[in-house]
Amino acid sequence: MDSLNRHEDYGQEALDETHLGADPIEQFKAWLIEAEAADIYEPNAFVLGTVDELNQSRSRTVLLKGVDNRGFFFATNYLSRKGEAVAANPSVSAAFGWYSMYRQVLIQGVAEKVAPAESDDYFGSRPHESQVAAWSSHQSQPINNRAALDDQFSEALTKFDGQDVPRPEYWGGYLIIPTRIEFWKGRSNRMHDRIEFVRELDVTGAPTEWKVQRLQP
Ligand SMILES: Cc1cc2nc3c(=O)[nH]c(=O)nc-3n(C[C@H](O)[C@H](O)[C@H](O)COP(=O)(O)O)c2cc1C
Repeated sequence: MDSLNRHEDYGQEALDETHLGADPIEQFKAWLIEAEAADIYEPNAFVLGTVDELNQSRSRTVLLKGVDNRGFFFATNYLSRKGEAVAANPSVSAAFGWYSMYRQVLIQGVAEKVAPAESDDYFGSRPHESQVAAWSSHQSQPINNRAALDDQFSEALTKFDGQDVPRPEYWGGYLIIPTRIEFWKGRSNRMHDRIEFVRELDVTGAPTEWKVQRLQP
């Protein structure tokens, strides 16, 4: 476990307030495109943090499947642990780590289910087997063994053979509406750059203007 004793130098390249656009969602898109160009494996993967009804936090990786001026879109099973947690408490976090670029983006916000038609559109774009898998897995529920899971998949494959697969009601998209987006850039001597955009959502969900602040590393 050599990595435990390494002290990497995260480089000299600075992240200055003037390097970032006024809109952090647009800025995020620019960094995602740069992560793709740098051949980061699964650059759209992020760690989603939730808090459940017992105030217990849990993190897991999911894939970003859309980003627009409303926020960040991912898809999952609404009855999974993350789905249950979001139903109890919509506050979520998202952490993108593009470590070989010395970059991290941290997002906080609220997750809300997208409209069924939007989930239908995304579900319809998935490969047939992935659509069948949504019917074959009660995500986050225990199962006796792998064979039982394989049986569930085989049965669903047979059922939907040669047919369009409808979206299960319990499967769909969430939009994370951000209230905080931090751009982190590693620097030498642990004197990293951190620039954070913050806004609030009023009672109607309408956002205030983004404010920008630099955070100590
Ligand atoms: C790279 C990667 C991408 C993943 N993408 C998704 C995803 O987009 N949606 C999803 O539901 N689970 C995804 N998973 C699986 C989740 O990490 C997790 O195991 C699953 O969603 C169940 O989480 P939960 O029990 O906390 O709800 C992904 C895992 C990895 C490692």
